Amino acid sequence: MIHLTIQNKKIPVLGFGTWQLKGKECLAGVEKALEVGYRHIDTAQIYENEAEVGAAIKASGVKREDIFLTTKVWITELKDGPLQKSVEVSLKKLKVDHVDLLLIHWPVNEVPFAEQLRALQSVQAAGKTALIGVSNYTVAQMKEVVEKIGAKIVTNQVEYHPYLSQKPILDYLKAHGLFLTAYSPLARGRVNDDLVLKKIALKYNKTPGQITLRWLVMQKGVVAIPKAASEKHIRENFEIFDFMLNAEEMNAITALARPDGRIVNPDNIAPVWDKTG
Ligand SMILES: NC(=O)c1ccc[n+]([C@@H]2O[C@H](COP(=O)([O-])OP(=O)(O)OC[C@H]3O[C@@H](n4cnc5c(N)ncnc54)[C@H](OP(=O)(O)O)[C@@H]3O)[C@@H](O)[C@H]2O)c1
Repeated sequence: MIHLTIQNKKIPVLGFGTWQLKGKECLAGVEKALEVGYRHIDTAQIYENEAEVGAAIKASGVKREDIFLTTKVWITELKDGPLQKSVEVSLKKLKVDHVDLLLIHWPVNEVPFAEQLRALQSVQAAGKTALIGVSNYTVAQMKEVVEKIGAKIVTNQVEYHPYLSQKPILDYLKAHGLFLTAYSPLARGRVNDDLVLKKIALKYNKTPGQITLRWLVMQKGVVAIPKAASEKHIRENFEIFDFMLNAEEMNAITALARPDGRIVNPDNIAPVWDKTG
C-alpha cells in the first residue's frame, strides 16, 4: 500500500467505499476488505451503514489505530450545535471514540460556511476527528473555506474518473498542499467496457478497473475509494500496486475525459460545478 502524509497523518491512497452497502452485505464487505488488506474505509451519515461499518471493524480484529476511517456530516446537520450532536451519534454507531477524517458531505448555502467550519473545527479540537475536509465543493467554495475562513481542511472528496476531468480542483488542491479523494473512481463500472483501458489492461494482464485505479493513485495527491460488494471485486480493486503505467498511458487515460462525463449530480444539492473542459 502507498500512503500520503498530511498534517502528520498517514493516509492509504486506496480506500474502500461503502455507499449502497447496507446491513449484512455491508458487514461482510467491510470485513472482507479489511481481511484483504484495505486500511481506509469511507462511510457517511446518509449511507445508514455506520453501525455495520463499526461492527465490521470490531469483528475484523484489525487494530483501530491501523484503520483510516472517514465519515461525512449530512446537509441537514450543518448548524453549530446539531453538527456536533450528529457526530456524537456517528461515533456511537461506528463504535469508535474518533474518526480520522470528518467531511461536510455537500456544500449548503443556508448555513454560513464560517459556522459550518467552526462546528467542524470544534469536533476536531475535542479530539473526535483527526482531520477535517469537504466534499463536492467547487474551487470558489474551497477558496472561501481555505483562504477566507482559514480552515485547515485536508481534502475535497469529489467525483473523479477517466471520463471526468477535475483539473481546476486538482490544481487548486495541489497549490495548497491538499489532496483529492476520488469518489465513483470506476465511473460506477463504466470503465470496464472502455477500448483504450482494455488495450492497456491487456498489456499488464489487469482489468480496465485496475488500470483506472492505478491511473488515479499514480497521480500525486490523489486517493481513490472504489466500492465493491463481491469478494472478487474487493480483491481485484486492491491488486493494483504491482505494476506502473508509463507517461504515454497516463496521458491516454487523461484524454478520455469528456464534457458529459459527470455521473453524480443530484437536483437541489449539487453546486454549479467548475467547468472542466
Ligand atoms: N462524497 C460523495 O458525495 C460521494 C458520492 C458517491 C460516492 N461516494 C463514495 O465513493 C465510493 C465509490 O463510489 P461509487 O460507489 O459511486 O462508485 P464506484 O466505486 O466507481 O463503482 C461501484 C460500482 O462498480 C462495481 N465494481 C466495483 N469493483 C468492480 C470491479 N473490479 N469490476 C467490475 N465492477 C466493479 C460495483 O459493483 P459491486 O458492488 O457489485 O461489486 C459497483 O456497482 C462510494 O461507495 C462512497 O463511499 C461519495
